[in-house]
Amino acid sequence: MARSAGGATQAGSAVDVREVDSTTAPLIAEAMGAEGDLVGARMARGCRCFGAWLGDELAGYGWLSTRPEWIGELELVITPRDGEGYVWNCFTLAHLRRRGVLLALLAGIRKRAHDEGLSRLWIGSVAIPADKAFGPSGFIPALVFASEVIAGYRWIEVRPAAGTNPALVNAAHLAVGVPDGRFLRTSHPKRH
Ligand SMILES: CC(C)(COP(=O)(O)OP(=O)(O)OC[C@H]1O[C@@H](n2cnc3c(N)ncnc32)[C@H](O)[C@@H]1OP(=O)(O)O)[C@@H](O)C(=O)NCCC(=O)NCCS
Repeated sequence: MARSAGGATQAGSAVDVREVDSTTAPLIAEAMGAEGDLVGARMARGCRCFGAWLGDELAGYGWLSTRPEWIGELELVITPRDGEGYVWNCFTLAHLRRRGVLLALLAGIRKRAHDEGLSRLWIGSVAIPADKAFGPSGFIPALVFASEVIAGYRWIEVRPAAGTNPALVNAAHLAVGVPDGRFLRTSHPKRH
């Protein structure tokens, strides 16, 4: 979990980031494949989608929520506070990866959020190499999660990221609604 901390990304200058509207939503749905049917429901509940374009081609997308949103990898609800947003389900089309699309997408979403008065963005990842994009994008680790499903139960461990300001850790705990520790709950996967 991390927050926006200002700064600029150096990559992806050829990538144009624009909010998705009813005209471009079908392109997102197509890019989302088997999850494409979720686009309408997400937008209907107030989630916003941003597309990254390389010329005329959709290169990737990411979602932004300022209302409670399910974190599928953890089976937890994140509730952004006033002035906060949550960036999730970022994706770059397979043939356009490692060209700075994610970096540009995060920079574009962050600029838009800042212009609209948001002061903090949360983002999460589960040990993926693209974590490396988060630091250069201005995100600071706040909480570290470990999680897996065992025999129908979701096991989660939560701890603060090393060296992080306690106020930021506390804000992250408030957002995800769980303290430090280990938890075991019945697993309830959701399509969202
Ligand atoms: C994760 C994902 C969005 C990365 O998109 P991308 O446009 O290729 O990422 P970028 O080109 O902006 O990469 C930014 C940095 O992240 C790191 N990175 C991204 N993909 C990586 C990989 N496969 N292996 C190692 N490092 C990687 C690198 O440090 C990279 O910078 P570099 O290319 O200058 O070394 C893309 O691989 C994807 O859609 N994966 C499937 C969905 C997913 O895992 N989404 C979670 C995102 S929160």
